[in-house]
Amino acid sequence: MRLDVVTIFPEYLEPLNVSLVGKARARGRLDVHVHDLRRWTYDRHNTVDDTPYGGGPGMVMKTEPWGDALDEITADGYEAGAHGPVLVVPTPSGRPFTQEVAVELSQRPWLVFTPARYEGIDRRVTEEYATRMPVYEVSIGDYVLAGGEAAVLVITEAVARLLPGVLGNAESHRDDSFAPGAMANLLEGPVYTKPPVWRGRGIPDVLLSGHHGRIARWRRDEALRRTALHRPDLIERCDPAAFDKKDRETLSILGWAPEPGGRFWRRPRDVEE
Ligand code: ADE
Repeated sequence: MRLDVVTIFPEYLEPLNVSLVGKARARGRLDVHVHDLRRWTYDRHNTVDDTPYGGGPGMVMKTEPWGDALDEITADGYEAGAHGPVLVVPTPSGRPFTQEVAVELSQRPWLVFTPARYEGIDRRVTEEYATRMPVYEVSIGDYVLAGGEAAVLVITEAVARLLPGVLGNAESHRDDSFAPGAMANLLEGPVYTKPPVWRGRGIPDVLLSGHHGRIARWRRDEALRRTALHRPDLIERCDPAAFDKKDRETLSILGWAPEPGGRFWRRPRDVEE
């Protein structure tokens, strides 16, 4: 997979040399090119922004540097044999970046990222490139960062670990929290390793029982418990067919009950716990 990142802070992308993404690069699974947007400015001050039409606070990133950069970078990529680029535009106004989007992007051969600073990029840039390639405007969460670079790191890591040969164990992301197509999207429960006692704290007996069925059940119950606590919306969205008899018992103990339509809702409580 080829990645191009265009930014006014190339050094912000240094973490792409480290850890999993760095290893994927070293193994030749990822071909990463980071470009300084200011290379495509021609004035003395290397200007990349200007005041917004219509007034208002902040600055807007100008069309020309982005247009010239993207033209040259895509032309170079095609010349080097890359094909099928996708433009990934991190923005708080994008659609949520989910595991499903990560899987979609991991199946593309070439991602071009345009992390913006200030109030974002002049709209005409995304419109122009949308006529040439798919454009994904994505937000990594309901908060506003100072720029899209951190979002590029997040998206790249989520995508890179899905590439064949990067994670070592091809099975290991099938059970990820949020894996698309999973019957129920549950958060993963707690995990433990040696020593068996640390500062007086033991581990749940069942994990030492060697009884695979009981361990799987315990893990499932812990996943239900954690999801009910941190992401009740995931339980509400679940297809009720995803819950077996024991799941239903656990959910009931946690205060959840099926509606007539079958989906689960948390029973209102008299007393807050
Ligand atoms: N740029 C600023 N905030 C962002 C967010 N939440 N997601 C993606 N890009 C951003």
